[in-house]
Amino acid sequence: MNDAVIGTPAVRVREVGLRDGLQMVGTILTAAQKLEWCRRMVDAGVREIEVTSFVPPKIVPQFADAVDVARGALSIDGLHAAALVPNLKGAQRAFDVGVAQVHYVLSASDAHNLKNVRRSTAESVADFARIVAERDERAKPVVLGAGVATAFGCTISGKVEERIVLGLVETLIEAGADEITVADTVGYANPGQVRALMRKVCALAGTVPVACHFHDTRGLGLANVFAALDAGVRAFDSSLGGLGGCPFAPNATGNINTEDTVFLLEAEGLRTGIDLDKLLAMRETLAEWLPGEPFSGAIARAGVPKTFGEKVVA
Ligand code: COA
Ligand code: ZN
Repeated sequence: MNDAVIGTPAVRVREVGLRDGLQMVGTILTAAQKLEWCRRMVDAGVREIEVTSFVPPKIVPQFADAVDVARGALSIDGLHAAALVPNLKGAQRAFDVGVAQVHYVLSASDAHNLKNVRRSTAESVADFARIVAERDERAKPVVLGAGVATAFGCTISGKVEERIVLGLVETLIEAGADEITVADTVGYANPGQVRALMRKVCALAGTVPVACHFHDTRGLGLANVFAALDAGVRAFDSSLGGLGGCPFAPNATGNINTEDTVFLLEAEGLRTGIDLDKLLAMRETLAEWLPGEPFSGAIARAGVPKTFGEKVVA
């Protein structure tokens, strides 16, 4: 894993607003706006951003500029630029641009995988092996992450068994994943379930870094972060203003909110290296760019407490 990423903050906060956050919004931002967003997040101390998604523009028009945004992001100092890919073709496009991290996603729920990427989970696992082979053929170093979506339940098929998720994690690591992300795509997870599953995932992953990706659809997003911390997870996806949601999952809503997540982590004494005031300023700009979108967040509404930053726990 990239030295610039590992070993600096106590907890890694990975911004996914430019990808998850934008994939359901009505307004298409320009590449220049997206890159300003990236620059201002980096200025606020965010080091990892999923800057785009290499999907067909016909499916998600917001990402028709994926190549331009990814190229632009690569020229931003201090940014570890990641991109989501749903298949081999997406990975090839991302490898061609040379992003620092490629994030491949498949769903534990076969029904969601079929809706989202039009193939079974087993076919997506087979595709991952092809992506690893393609990575290995290319000389340029890239972090290849693999994400297991709908890991805590699915709005289409309901319960997702732990053993399915654990089996996928094991297979993806054996196949060559450099990092694992476990995602609650539809906001079904609760803290007890998160603690139990993530303890097992962390034990299974060993030295492979593990991240969590939560949506706050049912109000338990930050409680789930807390439970995942307890289980040993030290990297979280979040979205500025809490935008987000999978267009191929019924009733999907936004990711956990970056501002509130940073507030929680810093209040816990876990250094993120992120400046909350700068995040809030960028959120205001984003709200001007995306009128009518469902922004969430308690800190933006109520303000940073005067006591923030004081050492509360002796
Ligand atoms: N980027 C750009 N073009 C792509 C592509 C990619 N990642 N993957 C496939 N294509 C192109 C193919 O070249 C082909 O083009 P052609 O018609 O000009 O020959 C066309 O798209 C269809 O290719 P196919 O492999 O049959 O794809 P599909 O129709 O089975 O769709 C996915 C599969 C994965 C591309 C599609 O379901 C998808 O993009 N899903 C992601 C949805 C998403 O963003 N979800 C939220 C994030 S998890
Ligand atoms: Zn998501």
